[in-house]
Amino acid sequence: MIGRGSENGARGCRTASGGIALASSILSGCALETPRTTVVPRSDFARSIHDLYGLIGWIVAGIGLVVLGLLLWTAVRYRARPGAALPRQTLGHTPLEIAWTVAPALILLVIAVPTIRTIFRTQGQAPPGALAITVRAWQWWWDFRYDSLGFATANELHIPAGRPILLRLEGPDVIHSFWVPALGGKRDVIPGRVNRISFTADTPGEYPGQCAEFCGVSHANMRMRVIVQTPDAFDRWVAEQQAPPVEPSGLAAEGKEIFTRSACVGCHTIQGLSGGVLGPDLTHFGSRRSFAGSTFPTTTDHVAAWIQNPGALKPAAKMPALGLTKEQALALASYLVSLK
Ligand code: CUA
Repeated sequence: MIGRGSENGARGCRTASGGIALASSILSGCALETPRTTVVPRSDFARSIHDLYGLIGWIVAGIGLVVLGLLLWTAVRYRARPGAALPRQTLGHTPLEIAWTVAPALILLVIAVPTIRTIFRTQGQAPPGALAITVRAWQWWWDFRYDSLGFATANELHIPAGRPILLRLEGPDVIHSFWVPALGGKRDVIPGRVNRISFTADTPGEYPGQCAEFCGVSHANMRMRVIVQTPDAFDRWVAEQQAPPVEPSGLAAEGKEIFTRSACVGCHTIQGLSGGVLGPDLTHFGSRRSFAGSTFPTTTDHVAAWIQNPGALKPAAKMPALGLTKEQALALASYLVSLK
C-alpha cells in the first residue's frame, strides 16, 4: 500500500489542542504536516510579520471596544421611553465628519509604515556573508540550487541557523508562490523576473512549506520542507552533497545500468553520469526524506511505484511512465535510494 507522506500531519491535526494551535491548523489545512503555522515564528522575517499581526490585532481590538462601548451607551441613553421627546436630530456635522475621515487614514498610516518597511527589508539584498540559494519552482516541485557551493537538491531546503539567507526565486514555467509559514510570508515566483526573500532562521528544526499560488492540477502536491540546522550539521550536510555519488552494488548496480540507458538521463542530473535539468538533481536523492514535491517518503517501494506510473501517484505529474517492468523499476528505485 502506497500511502502519502501526510499521515503524521493527520495525526498532528487530531491531537492539536488549544485555541490558537487548533485555529491555525484549520486555517492552514489539516491534511498536511503540522505545525504549518505563522503564529510560532522561527526567523526574523516571520517574527516581524508576527509583530505586525500583533500591532494590527491591538489596534482592531481597541477600535472594537470603542465602537461596542459607544453602541451600548447610545442604546441605553436614547432607548425608547413612553412620552419622551425625540433626541435632537443632527443633519451634517463638519467636525464629526472630518474626525471619521482623518481617524481611519491615521490608522491605515500606522499599519502601512511598518508593513511596507518589512516588505522592503525582506526582499532586498541580504547582508554580506549571506548564503544565496536559487529557488526554481517547477510544476510541481522545488529546485534548490546552491550555486556558490556547487550542488543542487530538490524539495528539501537545508539552511544553517543564525546565518542570513538570500533566496532568489525563479519560475521557469508558471506562477508559483514560495511559502514556509514558520519562516516568513508568501512571495510569488514569477516567470521572467527574479523575486527575493532574505531572512535569518533562528531555531534548528524542520519546517513544512507549500506552494501558495494555484499552479495547475498538482498544486496541492507541491510541498517542501526547510531543514534548519546548526552551522556544524549544515557544514556536514554540504560536504555530503558535494561528494560524488556512491558506487552501487547488487540490485542497485542493475538500477544504475537501467538509469544510464533510459530516458532518465535526459531530464535528471547525477553528477558524473548525466546532466538533465528538467527534473530534480538526483545525485544524492537517497539523502532526502521525501520526493515528488515532498509528497512521498523516499522508500524503495514508493520510488518504484512512482517510476512505474508517476501520474497514478501524483495527478498530471510531468515525468512520463517509461514502460519499465516491475523488476526494472525496483532495481532503479534501489539505485536511487542508495544515493545517500
Ligand atoms: Cu506551484 Cu502551486
